[in-house]
Order: sequence, then structure tokens, then C-alpha cells
Amino acid sequence: MKVEDLLFSLPLPVAITDGEGRITYTNQKFEFLLNRSFKYLKGKKLSEFFKNREKIEEQLKKSYTDLLEIFGFRDNNYYLSFSPLYVASKVEGVIVIVQPAEDNPFDEDILLLLKGLSHEIRNPLSGIKCAAKLFSQLKEYDEELVTVLLEETERIERLLDNVTKSFDFSLLNFEKTNIHRILQSVVKLFESEIREKGISIVYDFDPSLPEIPLDSDRMTQAIMNILRNAMEALSDSREKVIKIETGYAIQPSGFIFVRIKDSGAGMDEEELKKFLLPFFSTKEKGMGLGTFIAAEIVKRHGGELKVKSRKGYGTEVTVLLPMKRSDGKGSDS
Ligand SMILES: Nc1ncnc2c1ncn2[C@@H]1O[C@H](COP(=O)(O)OP(=O)(O)OP(=O)(O)O)[C@@H](O)[C@H]1O
Ligand SMILES: [Mg+2]
Repeated sequence: MKVEDLLFSLPLPVAITDGEGRITYTNQKFEFLLNRSFKYLKGKKLSEFFKNREKIEEQLKKSYTDLLEIFGFRDNNYYLSFSPLYVASKVEGVIVIVQPAEDNPFDEDILLLLKGLSHEIRNPLSGIKCAAKLFSQLKEYDEELVTVLLEETERIERLLDNVTKSFDFSLLNFEKTNIHRILQSVVKLFESEIREKGISIVYDFDPSLPEIPLDSDRMTQAIMNILRNAMEALSDSREKVIKIETGYAIQPSGFIFVRIKDSGAGMDEEELKKFLLPFFSTKEKGMGLGTFIAAEIVKRHGGELKVKSRKGYGTEVTVLLPMKRSDGKGSDS
């Protein structure tokens, strides 16, 4: 198989340059990325098509001459990585792979953090699972304990899967969905807890809202995280009311909003600043991931999560969601 054939089938934009940084090869994904044909690109300087021209030139030369293994940096919305192309142990060019970068560099760090976290937890977890399984084969054992061990480990596994999936853009499965159905199904899931805690839910839905493109599993998860926080914030309140509102957003136009308003503990300025940060929690058993994941899911839908709060009075979390996807697939497509 030729190198070109291999690169052609890669799901990422790839180009090869010569020692002077001129394009000698691109795959189709790369042509799409720059919206230019290979015929046009061939022989042109790769750096012409990106922002940090000098840095790219420099890196291409380095990768070609210094045999630097792999090196990468960010250029605007892309992450470029460079590696020498060896043919019969001679450098014949430089392979450049382009990946879309997140708008917010912070997100990339978090992604790494979370991946690291799940990795770290996964290992001891499989140990616990094996032990529990062995334990269950012994003659004398506490069956109930074994069940708990297994169920708990599986629960954490599911949680980790959920966390990782929440950050995997490619897994979003958009379908036209009635947002009210999602809201009602989440309330239904919490029904017994709502009753036990004496919480009243007040609805103010705009029935004229269209169905919008959503990944309903992910959106359900996001709404669950927000509603759970609202319920938890009410634990010490006398008036336990959660209002769920929907409607057309005035600003920005083309969006609908879902607002979840509680009459609970509220947040002070400091807490409000940290509200969206991962691992920020004021709760004994909180992981501090609920709102972070909710915001991430909303962002991946092209929407935004906003919060207003007053200590001692309550909190309102607003989710703004576009009626159409940015690629044009939307409510009336
Ligand atoms: N509706 C709310 N009212 C008051 N404080 C809130 C509300 N929602 C979130 N917070 C504050 O923001 C923090 C972070 O919330 P987040 O959901 O991310 O984590 P958590 O609820 O502590 O833990 P978990 O990961 O289990 O959700 C909470 O610990 C709380 O201090
Ligand atoms: Mg929470």
C-alpha cells in the first residue's frame, strides 16, 4: 500500500509538503477543509492557507531537516501536527495533519482532565469488579454485599461512560424533538423524589414552539443535571417551588429558551463565578460536574447556558437552543 493510499483513507485532513513547504499531496478531507482542489493546491506553500505563516514555515523546515518526531500547535480554529515522512529511511517530505480545535482552549484541557480522570478510575474499578466476582465464588459470602459491589461498580462505569460520551461531539444524534416531552420525562424520572420532598413544579410552556433538532438522550441528561441542582437547592427552603418555563427567545432570535427557576438557597458572587467550572461543588457528595456537563451538551447543540442567582432567594438557569442547526438542518427541514 502506498503512503498516499493510506493517508487518503484517514478521516482527517492531511497534506504532504516537500522540504520547502510546498504541497505535494492532499487527501480529499484536506481539499474540503480549504475548499480548494488538489490541482489548485499542488505546488503552493502550505503556510499560505493558515494564519501563523512564519511559524508553519519554520516548523515544516524543522520537521524536514531535524527529523523532529511529531510536533503540533494551534492555528486559529485548527490544530496542526507535523511529522517527517520517511520513505526507505530517508525523509521525503512532511506530513501535516489538521484537526479542528475547540473555540475555547480551556475545553481541551478539561477534556484531557476528564479523560485522565476516567482512565485513573477505571483501573482500580476493574480490580474491585474482579474481586467481587471472585468473592461471589467463595462458599461463605455476603450475597447482598456482593450485589452492592457489582451494582456500584457498574454504576460508576456507566457514569464514566456518560461523562466521556458527553464530550464526544461525533456521538451526537440529532433528531427533531419536542422539548416539552423531554422536560416532562425528566420530571417524571424525579417524580417520587419531588413528592417526598414536598416540591411543587409549576409549568409555563409555550405550546406553539416547534420541534427542534436535539440529541434527546444528551439533552435529557443536561436538563436532569439542572433540575437536580434546583431540587437540591430547595432542601432548606420553606417555599419549595420550581418553575419550568419555555418560549421563543427575544435575544438571540432563532432560539428557544428553557428556564428552570427555583426558590432555593441561591448563590453569592463567588459561587456564581465558579458555577460552570468542573469539580466545583459546595455539596458534601457533589462531584461538581453536573452544570459543567449540562453546559457542554448545550454548547454542542449550538446553544448557551445562562444563570442568574441571588443568595437566599433562588436561582434561574436558562438554556438557549437554536431552532435550526448551523449546517441548515432545522425545524422545517
Ligand atoms: N440551582 C442552584 N441553586 C444554588 N446553587 C447551585 C444551583 N445549581 C448549582 N449550584 C451550585 O453550583 C455548584 C456546582 O453544581 P454542579 O451541578 O456542577 O455540581 P454538584 O451539584 O455540586 O455535583 P454533581 O456533580 O453531583 O452535580 C453546586 O455545588 C452549587 O454550589
Ligand atoms: Mg449537580
